[in-house]
Amino acid sequence: MNYKIDLDTIDISGSVPTTEPERQYYYMAKCKKLIEEKSKEIGRPLRMCTQTFGCQMNARDSEKIVGILELIGYQETEKEEEADFVLYNTCTVRENANLRVYGRLGYLKKLKEKNPYMLIALCGCMMQEADVVEKLKKSYRFVDVIFGTHNIFKFAELLCNRLESDRMVIDIWKDTTEIVENLPSERKYPFKAGVNIMFGCNNFCSYCIVPYVRGRERSRNPKDIIREIELLVSDGVVEVMLLGQNVNSYGKTLDDPMTFAELLQEVEKIEGLKRIRFMTSHPKDLSDELIEVMRHSKKICTHLHLPVQSGSSRILKIMNRRYDKEKYLDLVERLKKAMPDLALTTDIIVGFPGETEEDFLETLDVVKKVRYSSAYTFIYSKRTGTPAASMEEQIPEDVIKDRFDRLLEEIQKISAEEAQKDQGKRVEVLVEDVNEHTEGYVTGRMSNNMLVHFKGEEELIGTFVTVSLDECKGFYYMGHKCD
Ligand code: SAH
Ligand code: SF4
Ligand code: F3S
Repeated sequence: MNYKIDLDTIDISGSVPTTEPERQYYYMAKCKKLIEEKSKEIGRPLRMCTQTFGCQMNARDSEKIVGILELIGYQETEKEEEADFVLYNTCTVRENANLRVYGRLGYLKKLKEKNPYMLIALCGCMMQEADVVEKLKKSYRFVDVIFGTHNIFKFAELLCNRLESDRMVIDIWKDTTEIVENLPSERKYPFKAGVNIMFGCNNFCSYCIVPYVRGRERSRNPKDIIREIELLVSDGVVEVMLLGQNVNSYGKTLDDPMTFAELLQEVEKIEGLKRIRFMTSHPKDLSDELIEVMRHSKKICTHLHLPVQSGSSRILKIMNRRYDKEKYLDLVERLKKAMPDLALTTDIIVGFPGETEEDFLETLDVVKKVRYSSAYTFIYSKRTGTPAASMEEQIPEDVIKDRFDRLLEEIQKISAEEAQKDQGKRVEVLVEDVNEHTEGYVTGRMSNNMLVHFKGEEELIGTFVTVSLDECKGFYYMGHKCD
């Protein structure tokens, strides 16, 4: 959403406002002036480049940061080499996400040596870990601004502090109950958008670091959510993705509690909105009420991401997932019965501490029974501070690798078979992009989240088109536009 606020009308000579978001708009106006001065000094506009790691939450947070950067006068570039401001929005859910950031910082240091105007900022989940910030303070002094997941709304203020002081600015909050509304944001796509409905997570799955770095669960007020979507729709958006770590527990912490199913019904009413997606759904909280709402909805897409993590009831218990294999399979059965066209996707962790061959076979069994249209498979990664990190019986690498390969093979076989089912059908797709590989082709997304490539012009982007699914290529289709 673009808040068309003219920063030049804000008085920055007076005292700093103490309420939000006014305070941040004051700092944006100040930043804008400082950026203008710098830009005059160099004789060209200043450029920024942001890199986002991790999940949709981070992607959405980056849009908010880019919204502020654009408003204060930075132009976007894809190349770090030509940027005067580089921001990494980090993820720490698995160790490899974490390591990549350190690797890239080494490269940024070299770039900064060549460009004296360059500023480097780090934010996101990794910054919520005390040992990470210590390491940065000690060995990465060239980083200019460090902030976490709870105070993204303060970005303009922190940047202003840095521009005025020349010192490393660090601001990390342990947790927050605050949700600041009405800040600017820049969307990646004009026709679809992610909308946060809640922040944080209360589930504490024993392997997962997210509750520690994203804090306790907080739901946004339904009125704010609806207003945001209405504004998005008036700005050309036809599809929204409602975002939360566990959308099914939406509304529990509100003064006027409301269920996720009730929220969906309100979103459904928004005129002009065509498609609704949401993620992630925790199986333990997926209610019959939600199944009914999905079944009757004209807008909710026929895709549900329902992470299972493991098929073994024994492992699920140690993971603190609060459902077992039977309960999960029963839920899937009820979903499929209510919506025979529903495409299910999942997340699976291989090699959780103590996982035996028998446990793993249970996971394979679930995969065979559910027949996912796709699945994200992860090798268990030990995250310091989580209960699973101190569990004995961490699984040897070669055993994990073998299980991982077997799982992947099964998933690929099943998802290819599942995809085949739609061959020859005519479906409505939302055109998202021109096809990078074949000239003159565009790519559309089906309601069930599958992609189809077909001949078409760039002008079709953002529109709904009926396409015939001619040939299944495993995880996507080649098709043609029906007139
Ligand atoms: N809130 C979502 C998932 C968020 S994290 C849910 O509950 O499903 C995304 C995925 O990363 C998880 O579903 C899990 O499969 C994976 N993941 C989380 N922690 C992990 C770890 N320590 N090692 C490997 N995979 C992990
Ligand atoms: Fe992590 Fe579990 Fe929360 Fe998902 S529900 S974010 S896996 S703790
Ligand atoms: Fe990563 Fe944070 Fe998302 S740890 S997966 S970016 S909530």
